[in-house]
Amino acid sequence: MKKIIISGKGGAGKSTLASLLSFVIAEKNPSLKMLVIDGDASSTLALSLGMGEDFKKYMPVGELRPRVKDEREEENNMEQFKEKCLIKISLAGLPMDFAYMGHHSTKECFCGYNEALSLLLNSLDKNNSYDVVVVDREAGLEHLTRNVYPSSSDFLVLTSWLSDDYFSVIKEINDTADILGSTKNRLLVINDILGSCKSEKDAKDYIEKYGLKPSDWFVIKRVDTGLLRQGKVDQALKSDKELELAVNKIAEWILSA
Ligand SMILES: Nc1ncnc2c1ncn2[C@@H]1O[C@H](COP(=O)(O)OP(=O)(O)OP(=O)(O)O)[C@@H](O)[C@H]1O
Ligand SMILES: [Mg+2]
Repeated sequence: MKKIIISGKGGAGKSTLASLLSFVIAEKNPSLKMLVIDGDASSTLALSLGMGEDFKKYMPVGELRPRVKDEREEENNMEQFKEKCLIKISLAGLPMDFAYMGHHSTKECFCGYNEALSLLLNSLDKNNSYDVVVVDREAGLEHLTRNVYPSSSDFLVLTSWLSDDYFSVIKEINDTADILGSTKNRLLVINDILGSCKSEKDAKDYIEKYGLKPSDWFVIKRVDTGLLRQGKVDQALKSDKELELAVNKIAEWILSA
């Protein structure tokens, strides 16, 4: 099971990338079983997927009980997940599964939510439930410190604008992942919202300046996000060949790794 963890500073384009990548992976490989998880307590991925607020009728993964302590409880947990959290969606006509971690209007500590997400990901992995799981996470690096991704084979996607404030955050995320020994596969996606990446050299200079050594890196140009905001991912990709090519390259890289 390939777990693709999308990280970066606030507003870097994590959710946008999560929706684009999920669509392209599903389009290229209709037989793959795919789950998309909104792992951000603010839960905005559904908007990028064109789903509106309907998802809130379902139980967040973070409220899964009981916690896994033995095999029996793990089985119960999976049953509950399938019954209450799992949402069958169609992203621009492509079927896939969706769930969200949540943390709405509660005094409860955030740890339990992350723990529930971690246990779920482990169970899904163990049961080979999906071929690909895309997890859109909250801004910053705190999510890494909660040991949600114990497998070094996970893909950590560092999403960033070509600017110092955004690069300094992915540098922190990258270094924290190094210390934790998780997610050896690092992919850097420069989401060029500022339009400041004029050539490959601009990107290389930043990568070098911050001492990053990603397994590979890609650039997504500034795009017209009108269609994306309506969840019309397919139309957005078709109307922008450069965007389509860039997201296809990222998907191909991950699938062949
Ligand atoms: N390549 C791009 N070109 C132009 N606008 C973009 C691009 N990528 C994302 N955006 C826009 O930037 C804004 C932030 O994007 P998005 O919500 O995907 O970021 P995020 O990293 O998920 O933010 P958050 O940290 O709040 O979860 C959105 O309005 C989105 O439409
Ligand atoms: Mg987001």
